[in-house]
Amino acid sequence: MAGMRILVLGGTSFVGRAIVADALARGHAVTTLNRGRTGPDTPGVEAVRGDRGHDGGLGALHGRSFDAVIDPSGLVPADVLRTARVLAPGTGFYAFVSSVSVYPDWKSVPVHEDSPCHAGEPDEEGDPADHRRYGARKVGCEEAVHLVYPRDRALIVRPGTIVGPHDNIGQALWWLDRISRGGPVLAPGDPSRPLQLLDVRDLARFVVERVENWASGVFNTVPDGPNTTMGEWLGHAVTATGSDAELVWAAEEVLLAREVLPWWEMPLWLPDLPENRAAWHTCGAAAAAAGLTCRPVGETVADTWRWMASGGRPTPMPGLPPVGMGEVRERRILHRVLTGR
Ligand SMILES: NC(=O)c1ccc[n+]([C@@H]2O[C@H](COP(=O)([O-])OP(=O)(O)OC[C@H]3O[C@@H](n4cnc5c(N)ncnc54)[C@H](OP(=O)(O)O)[C@@H]3O)[C@@H](O)[C@H]2O)c1
Repeated sequence: MAGMRILVLGGTSFVGRAIVADALARGHAVTTLNRGRTGPDTPGVEAVRGDRGHDGGLGALHGRSFDAVIDPSGLVPADVLRTARVLAPGTGFYAFVSSVSVYPDWKSVPVHEDSPCHAGEPDEEGDPADHRRYGARKVGCEEAVHLVYPRDRALIVRPGTIVGPHDNIGQALWWLDRISRGGPVLAPGDPSRPLQLLDVRDLARFVVERVENWASGVFNTVPDGPNTTMGEWLGHAVTATGSDAELVWAAEEVLLAREVLPWWEMPLWLPDLPENRAAWHTCGAAAAAAGLTCRPVGETVADTWRWMASGGRPTPMPGLPPVGMGEVRERRILHRVLTGR
């Protein structure tokens, strides 16, 4: 249905920004609610200021009505509960962006939507920048939505790793930046190791299309199976940046012996260990059947580099560790890999 009145909670960083862009492109009237700190509002939206972190912060929403609300930014259950309660009288449908981190075992076991989740509390308070209980809190956020909205009027999407322009975690961006500087580049493990990466714009399209139809449900929003490999991904980065980078693949044992921190220090790398056996094998069959389509990863890499080359830099999410290995440490490990010493 075109011309819906959609409220996006947040909307100025990464996932929310892509959802706003998609909804505007489809002719919807988009209102965004945020504090005005993280980034500029997208031209064309009605920008409303508010703070969902405390009881008095949502006055601007009282008495407002929307056809649907999309919540890409909820991290604290009590904030989601507060917002849902304010909106319920005038807004019929609630879409929430959760995470595969709701499953404690998502890295070791291939999870589907009915797999066991963390225990969550729908009224848990806390600092959104404290990520230690990230998965349990996302469960609490989902429960908060379901406490206020019946299941047939709520959509929950659980993405895995999201990539694309405006990325605010920065894993893929670090690789593009490093590869653009050229020369020998330390690359982790086996180039054929799979990855399962979703372009933020494909996530946005899936969410907005479902919201248009008030189509409820719970979905792992991931490509249905691995959609690229570390080697292909980094190869696309070499092509996109036009650099002379030469990938130097280091065995995982070498990296682990040097205490290289998987995921953060060597972005996107999860070693081939039993605890990571299923990290890139989350079940996405339900989302695929419901219409989630995934563009080729080469397109994602090229568009992300285009954004970076035009000055785009991540707006890091508060509380997350720094991404990527320092130059000196990389040189030392490269020396060892290249000389065997
Ligand atoms: N990146 C991944 O790989 C990945 C994977 C799985 C799931 N996810 C999920 O995807 C979502 C990504 O969110 P995003 O940051 O990209 O969303 P976003 O909507 O683009 O940005 C976050 C928004 O929240 C607003 N905000 C923060 N605190 C607020 C408050 N107290 N009151 C009102 N607004 C507030 C910020 O604006 P102000 O600061 O100006 O208020 C900003 O507009 C998260 O929920 C994350 O859990 C991400």
